[in-house]
Formats: sequence, structure tokens, C-alpha cells
Amino acid sequence: MQAPNAALLARPALLGDAYEHVAGEYDGAEHHTTRILENLSRRAVQCAYQQSHARPVHTILEIGAGTGALTGALLGAWPDAQVIATDPSHEMLAVLERKHGSAAGRLATVLAEVSSAIAASGGSPDLVAAGLADPFLDPPSLRELRAGMPRGSRLLLTVPSRSWARRERTGRLGIPLDNTRFRLRDGSVVFAKSLTYDEPDMRRLVGAAGFVAPTVGTERSTEVWSAPEVCWALGTAP
Ligand SMILES: C[S@@+](CC[C@H](N)C(=O)[O-])C[C@H]1O[C@@H](n2cnc3c(N)ncnc32)[C@H](O)[C@@H]1O
Repeated sequence: MQAPNAALLARPALLGDAYEHVAGEYDGAEHHTTRILENLSRRAVQCAYQQSHARPVHTILEIGAGTGALTGALLGAWPDAQVIATDPSHEMLAVLERKHGSAAGRLATVLAEVSSAIAASGGSPDLVAAGLADPFLDPPSLRELRAGMPRGSRLLLTVPSRSWARRERTGRLGIPLDNTRFRLRDGSVVFAKSLTYDEPDMRRLVGAAGFVAPTVGTERSTEVWSAPEVCWALGTAP
């Protein structure tokens, strides 16, 4: 697959975003909780695969692909599919390209945010996936995504659970519930928007955006005190 030239696409307004600053260190060992959340999110891909492997998946559009934690799981679960990985952060996508360079024939990267991802990717995806989509998973974005998705295509979302966010952010860190915090090696602290949902809210969110038959689930870890959880949803565009 020919990778679209990211430099030719309009740079989304979001590029002042926190993730642009965090990108170089995002995969660092100090962000241990993020690694746990990524593992839980990858488990959700396995659940989604088991529920949809009977349907052919030729093209996967990934939204907010970041440094590619979920990308690897998508490439592995659907070994014949092309994956178009999108993100508004040039720096995050640069890490993803280095990490998954060996999959170059099946992987394209596109600089785009959620509202422009379907148009920018130029494809008609069978599956749209957004792993740890907490910076952008609000109702308007989801409705916009739904409007661009072909009939019968499926949506897979994962987010940190609200219950875990209450334990970790409100309880342990004392930061706003809808924010995540990264401490960088130079001592600076970066906050990023982070919307979280438990299963009932996730089901409502996906249903209200117009997806049918949503399945939801929660993957849990006991690796650290706060017991991280990732809530996921799989729905179909009717
Ligand atoms: C928590 S990271 C998750 C990265 C990756 N999907 C994963 O599973 O590890 C969130 C990603 O969302 C991206 N992002 C932020 N705002 C966005 C938006 N409006 N549309 C799409 N992606 C966005 C960030 O640049 C970042 O790479």
C-alpha cells in the first residue's frame, strides 16, 4: 500500500496537543500504567476479533493510533488486512512508523484527527478502531465518525474505565477526573484531556451515535494498586 505523504495533508489545529510533547517518551518504562492499559486494550482486540472474524476485514482505519500499541494487535489479528493508522500528532506517528516499519506493505500513516480521519484516509474501512481513545471520545466526534462509516462496517473503541479513573486520578493523584498527567524527564508536567467510561455509559455513547448491537466489556489488571481497567465497545454502522 502506498503511504499517503503526511506532509501534504493539512496539519490539524490540534498539533499544540499534549501528545506532541509526550511522544518521545511515551513508550518509556516510567509510564508503566500506560503499558498496562495498552495490554488491556490489546485484549479487547482479541475479543473483537473473536466476535467478528467471520466477516471479511480488508481495510482497518485506526484513529488516534499514537505510537502504535494497538496497531500491532490489529496487524496481528487480521494478517490480510491493510491498516491505515491516523493521528493528529506528527511525533506520535513518527514513533509508530519506526516501530512497525516491517509491516510497511500493509500499513499507511495519515496525519488526521478524529473528525477528518475517514476523509483523509480515502478508504472505506470495514473496521474502524480507536485504542485508548480518551482524548477525543466525546459524543460529537463519535457521531461524526458514524456519519462517515460505510453501512455494515464495525467500530471498536477502548478507553480507561471511569471506575479506575476515580481511584487513580481523584483518589491517588488528586487531579481532575477528565485529565491524565505525564511527568517528563526534564521535570515538566503535561496534562491531556482524557474522557473515561464504564460499560453502561459506553453502551449509551455508542448507541446514541447511531451504532447498532453494541457489545461492551471490561478488561482488568491487578498489576498495580489502582487495578487498571479498560472498557471497550464494538458496534455496527447500520
Ligand atoms: C492515549 S494515546 C493512545 C495511542 C494508541 N491508540 C494506543 O492505543 O496506545 C491517544 C492518542 O490520541 C491522539 N489524539 C488526540 N486528540 C485526538 C483527536 N482529536 N483525534 C484523533 N486522535 C487524537 C493523540 O495524539 C494520541 O496519540
